[in-house]
Amino acid sequence: MNEGDGKTLRVALLGCGVVGSQVARLLREQADDLAVRTGARIEVAGIAVRRLSHPRPGVDQALLTTDAMGLATRPDVDIVIEVIGGIEPARSLLLAAMKAGKSVVTANKALLAEHGEQIHAASRTYGADLYYEASVAGAIPLLRPLRESLAGDTVHRVLGIVNGTTNFILDRMDTSGADFGESLEEAQALGYAEPDPTADVEGFDAAAKAAILAGLAFHTRVTAADVHREGITEVTAADIASAKTLRRIVKLLAICERSDAGVSVRVHPAMIPRSHPLAAVGGAYNAVFVEAQSAGQLMLYGAGAGGTPTASAVLGDVVAVARNRLAGTRGPELSTYAELPVLPMGDTLTRYHVSLDVDDRPGVLAPVAEAFARHDVSIQAVRQTSRGDEALLVIVTHEARDADLAATILELQALPVVRAVASVMRVEGEEDPS
Ligand code: HSE
Repeated sequence: MNEGDGKTLRVALLGCGVVGSQVARLLREQADDLAVRTGARIEVAGIAVRRLSHPRPGVDQALLTTDAMGLATRPDVDIVIEVIGGIEPARSLLLAAMKAGKSVVTANKALLAEHGEQIHAASRTYGADLYYEASVAGAIPLLRPLRESLAGDTVHRVLGIVNGTTNFILDRMDTSGADFGESLEEAQALGYAEPDPTADVEGFDAAAKAAILAGLAFHTRVTAADVHREGITEVTAADIASAKTLRRIVKLLAICERSDAGVSVRVHPAMIPRSHPLAAVGGAYNAVFVEAQSAGQLMLYGAGAGGTPTASAVLGDVVAVARNRLAGTRGPELSTYAELPVLPMGDTLTRYHVSLDVDDRPGVLAPVAEAFARHDVSIQAVRQTSRGDEALLVIVTHEARDADLAATILELQALPVVRAVASVMRVEGEEDPS
């Protein structure tokens, strides 16, 4: 096998956990192929870990060090792979690595969503490659298609399931009728959810990914703080059942939209029609829909988490930066020329599904309808089911300002004819035609 012309590129691997250990394995097992594909042998110079004593089967102990900064800036290192996660020390390590002329590959969504501007500025200043395909939706090639394949198109919308843990939980709630707590426990027992599931179930993980996606899709600057975020902890078994009666399913969606007024980036649970392609994305899988002017609708689907799938995305970036380095060039810079304003959630157009427990007597519908009308919210569909002296009133609205929809709900809660607002959830996607 042609193994290049004797060139070697040396890699510092920062982190050797779920993803890092798989990156180390793939670099080892695929060394010959990688040499042919890139034109140089990719050699691991060292692996930075927190504790040397932790058992790491298959990893050469001699490569381990606890001095991450020393490794990331070592003169014999060409490429730094960061799979530690979190803001610090990852930020300082990557900034120092780029300053020292290293090419950088990272899977760190939180860092890019919160400090992307600083990290990209360092990449520009020092002429260092910066690739981060693994930061969003694990194995799914998503950032490169947005950054490169669709660079000549105009993306209007990115809509996706970008968190596997919450998708698993919502899927279990849908199929078993279990409530959130039971489904979370099951996800934890199976290893899908962390012991502290906050980042996933409260939508922080998805919001960081949405910020990265929106920035790339719309050529503008979006940070995690710009993303409206709601998690799934408030989703009830009643919400799921209500969605079912409407032939809908509840998913935690990341929605990035561009309009004449600016961009809107949000993460929240929403009911989508069961006929929507995203409705079929079960378990811990991810899928992202992209709508572009000329390309039309695209959907990318696959494993959004897990050591080996995420390591695949890391390796793809390693090959890219290795090729660039050998060619004496760099990958494309992040383009943020559009400088679009990020719209507040209240000004975003959304649709609501509302279930109300109401008195079943004459004159109930009128005040309910008036509450919607007073806030300029148009009703698309109403269905009533009687149960003794009370009724369940299910209302789906047309699109309206989110602030107006929220104000309508507050008014409904105060109406004497409304016994309880049983379920409120946003709705995405067109109704089934049948
Ligand atoms: N915890 C994430 C998920 C994977 O459940 O999808 C890493 O971003």
